[in-house]
Amino acid sequence: MKILSVVGARPNFMKIAPFKRAIDEFNSTNGFHIEHLLVHTGQHYDEKMSKIFFEDLELPKPDFYLGVGGGSHAEQTAKIMIEFEKVLLNEKPNLVVVVGDVNSTLACSLTAVKMGIKVAHIESGLRSFDRNMPEEINRIVTDSISDFLFVSEPSGIKNLTNEGVRREKIFFVGNVMIDSLKYYLNKNGIGKLLNKNNITPHQYCLVTLHRPSNVDNPENLDKIIGLLNNISNELTVFFPVHPRTSKNIAKYNLSQKLNSNIIISEPVGYLDFINLLKEAKFVLTDSGGIQEETTWLGIPCITLRNTTERPVTVEEGTNYLAGEDVERAYYYVQEIMKGNVKKGNIPELWDGNAAKRIVNILVERL
Ligand code: UD1
Ligand code: UDP
Repeated sequence: MKILSVVGARPNFMKIAPFKRAIDEFNSTNGFHIEHLLVHTGQHYDEKMSKIFFEDLELPKPDFYLGVGGGSHAEQTAKIMIEFEKVLLNEKPNLVVVVGDVNSTLACSLTAVKMGIKVAHIESGLRSFDRNMPEEINRIVTDSISDFLFVSEPSGIKNLTNEGVRREKIFFVGNVMIDSLKYYLNKNGIGKLLNKNNITPHQYCLVTLHRPSNVDNPENLDKIIGLLNNISNELTVFFPVHPRTSKNIAKYNLSQKLNSNIIISEPVGYLDFINLLKEAKFVLTDSGGIQEETTWLGIPCITLRNTTERPVTVEEGTNYLAGEDVERAYYYVQEIMKGNVKKGNIPELWDGNAAKRIVNILVERL
């Protein structure tokens, strides 16, 4: 059996790493041979957005690197499809595995299915119900053409069945992102990055921002910088900046508006980042995956978005949905500073074994 997995952007690496490890474990315990090939589309390409994750997550060098890079949505998606088709023509895998909701996910699932190759989508069924988000389009299209739909939270089952997907294609397996978090959390000391920046554990706010709705619009970005400045008057703010955001801060001449005591850094590697998450007082973000990681860690997370495709993090976890509303976000900051925090529970099946369940299902059904 030959399986080809796709990675392209930062949030893909920590989802494929446990899948690859589960295949290796399955092969060694069952004397079975699933051949696994890794394709990197090159959607993300900076060292701190790509290479560092291969080191941190012990991922092998990709078998194929498509080198696609940035571009408009059509350019990026089309370039990936053209290059990925060549790989599929040569390799003829039995299955293509895609994760999440980035352009690489959409491009590779569409290419495979048109060549008659089965597709498994990990982290299927999530819906924000906001079609202005490029990720929502990617999720809807990928789910509608995939053969195996691996779901991370109950809302996924409901969304897919409401869209008319047959129940036998849907598998509630848990969350591969949590497989990685659980596995890697104890692998690296936290000291380094905190010490280097003179930060006291539990006395800082960790910030990440990259949604176009927050960072592509100069007025919105300016307001968010005002929020960060307000927080930094009360607490250390650590802000590893996504390349989309740093380009926009430069483009709109906003860097001089950031309080000088805000600690700005390049994006940080996975091991450093999950340790920063674990020790934070709270997190302010618009990331998808970080909403899940904070819920599992029990760390308060203020999400600067109007919707979330991960409702379990609000209903059961530690996530506060502030909208794109800096005043509401600041209200949550003050509540957290007063100690009024949600306790939260770990959602069902976020137990570190999602990838093993996926491999068992694939071996049984492929
Ligand atoms: C992409 C995903 C988004 C995901 C995010 C995770 C899509 C449509 N969007 O958004 O869902 O949450 O990744 O981080 O797939 N850039 C660099 N270096 C890099 C990567 C990007 O400089 O290594 C810059 C480029 O100018 C690029 C821009 O960032 O054009 C945007 O990159 P792109 O991959 O298109 O979208 P993201 O905003 O990163
Ligand atoms: N992450 C990281 N370094 C950073 C920021 C995020 O390692 O500087 C990790 C984070 O722990 C999570 C993933 O990247 O595992 C989330 O990716 P991102 O926020 O870019 O994408 P999204 O989840 O929003 O699609």
